[in-house]
Amino acid sequence: MLFKSIVSLALVAAAAAQATKGKAFDHVFIVFLENTNYQIAATDPILSSLTPQGVLLDNYSGVTHPSEPNYVAAAGGDYFGISDDSLYYIPSNVTTIVDLLDKKGLTWKTYQEDLPHACFTGFNSTNLYMRKHNPFIIYDSIAQNQTRCNNVVPATQLATDLAAGDLPNYSFYTPNMLNDAHDTTIAYASKWLNNTIIPLLSNPAFNNNTLVVITFDETEDYPIANRVWTLLLGDAVAALKNTTDSTYYTHYSLLSTVESNWDLGNLGRQDTNVTLSNVFDFVAKVTGYENANVTNPPFLNDTIPGFMTNHSTPLNTTSSTPKSAADSIAVPKVMAAFAVLAGAFAAMI
Ligand SMILES: *[C@@H]1O[C@H](CO)[C@@H](O)[C@H](O)[C@H]1NC(C)=O
Ligand SMILES: *[C@@H]1O[C@H](CO)[C@@H](O)[C@H](O)[C@H]1NC(C)=O
Ligand SMILES: *[C@@H]1O[C@H](CO)[C@@H](O)[C@H](O)[C@H]1NC(C)=O
Ligand SMILES: *[C@@H]1O[C@H](CO)[C@@H](O)[C@H](O)[C@H]1NC(C)=O
Ligand SMILES: *[C@@H]1O[C@H](CO)[C@@H](O)[C@H](O)[C@H]1NC(C)=O
Ligand SMILES: *[C@@H]1O[C@H](CO)[C@@H](O)[C@H](O)[C@H]1NC(C)=O
Ligand SMILES: *[C@@H]1O[C@H](CO)[C@@H](O)[C@H](O)[C@H]1NC(C)=O
Ligand SMILES: *[C@@H]1O[C@H](CO)[C@@H](O)[C@H](O)[C@H]1NC(C)=O
Ligand SMILES: *[C@@H]1O[C@H](CO)[C@@H](O)[C@H](O)[C@H]1NC(C)=O
Ligand SMILES: *[C@@H]1O[C@H](CO)[C@@H](O)[C@H](O)[C@H]1NC(C)=O
Ligand SMILES: *[C@@H]1O[C@H](CO)[C@@H](O)[C@H](O)[C@H]1NC(C)=O
Ligand SMILES: *[C@@H]1O[C@H](CO)[C@@H](O)[C@H](O)[C@H]1NC(C)=O
Repeated sequence: MLFKSIVSLALVAAAAAQATKGKAFDHVFIVFLENTNYQIAATDPILSSLTPQGVLLDNYSGVTHPSEPNYVAAAGGDYFGISDDSLYYIPSNVTTIVDLLDKKGLTWKTYQEDLPHACFTGFNSTNLYMRKHNPFIIYDSIAQNQTRCNNVVPATQLATDLAAGDLPNYSFYTPNMLNDAHDTTIAYASKWLNNTIIPLLSNPAFNNNTLVVITFDETEDYPIANRVWTLLLGDAVAALKNTTDSTYYTHYSLLSTVESNWDLGNLGRQDTNVTLSNVFDFVAKVTGYENANVTNPPFLNDTIPGFMTNHSTPLNTTSSTPKSAADSIAVPKVMAAFAVLAGAFAAMI
């Protein structure tokens, strides 16, 4: 009897693990650098020396200005009208990517350089750590839940986790105000990247069916399209080394790509906006997701008003029902066609 329950428990556990196996990667590791126009990054000697090791996304966009709303968007699929870097607490009824990962038993952490201690909720610390660059703590659904909050950790924890063979399935890494180029230069940040993140690719505890995404929160200049230099690295894209993908992506693609890889459903926010949430091509090819052919991409340099700055604006709190496999192929196709028609119509008027 006991033996039988153990066997069936083991089978259930195996089935659960099987069900959530990543289609294109088992780990994603996202690194956000700061405030750099595409051309400035693309002509940095170190960054350009790294492009042959990965896939250059040369048509990837931040979603607004300044920093904080871009980070908030990357974790929750919207910036809820935030248009500055102030102290915000997003209500605890608002879901994030963490809810979706949790539901499938996938592990996550955010590694924050110079965070004084795990779960620190303060605004800044020694001017090196900034809450505005730590989206997870801005969502009360994480900050007010001790279990989740414990995953908001100082970046020094990464070495410990790798030594224990414990790289989370989803990691979001925020360098400090010097290393991310915010208070320094692109040359300073790329040197840091080369010395700190790139060597991890030789560590099998890190580079184990892993997708690394190096991106920037936003451009330095506001009156231009918010195009930011983005590079995919890691063994998950080993076969695509030294290629360029010019599909139109945004920070919402960070969500839709993760959602598509692990079949997580979605947050029902801009992560489902077909114009803004194309899935990274190498993942879309594996999951069968059909990307939109965006003909007239928006600049994404202005803020759309929302709940955090105007409480009468509707707030989308819960995750939508996960799309069925059929939907995830058919819906975007139809919507993409609609978007193209709408674009053509807009161009005519
Ligand atoms: C999640 O990470 C663990 C630890 O590295 C790994 O064994 C597992 O395959 C990953 N799960 C999925 C579904 O990618
Ligand atoms: C979510 O919480 C906010 C802030 O407490 C509240 O204004 C809003 O009505 C809540 N929304 C739902 C759907 O519960
Ligand atoms: C960070 O906090 C310190 C001490 O509270 C304060 O003096 C400093 O002005 C703050 N810096 C920023 C950028 O908010
Ligand atoms: C707190 O977080 C844990 C782990 O993510 C989750 O299982 C639990 O449902 C959360 N509790 C609340 C009240 O949201
Ligand atoms: C980047 O790292 C590589 C390998 O560690 C090293 O050979 C190279 O000199 C570094 N480049 C710079 C400019 O620091
Ligand atoms: C790589 O991942 C596999 C499957 O998740 C795991 O069995 C193996 O131990 C991992 N290798 C290292 C070096 O962590
Ligand atoms: C966005 O770009 C347009 C076109 O250059 C410009 O008119 C507008 O002022 C910009 N918005 C902001 C907030 O800078
Ligand atoms: C990368 O591709 C370019 C052409 O797109 C080629 O000139 C260059 O030699 C390649 N570099 C490597 C390291 O393969
Ligand atoms: C909230 O999410 C639902 C489900 O995806 C969507 O239909 C609706 O338009 C969203 N509402 C807002 C205010 O964004
Ligand atoms: C999708 O994004 C486009 C471009 O920013 C925007 O015009 C449109 O209103 C968004 N759709 C929804 C439903 O939010
Ligand atoms: C995208 O749309 C444009 C304009 O309709 C068309 O010229 C182009 O061939 C399309 N590209 C793809 C990959 O479908
Ligand atoms: C980015 O994509 C848009 C829409 O598909 C296209 O019009 C534009 O030319 C592309 N830009 C680059 C740099 O590839």
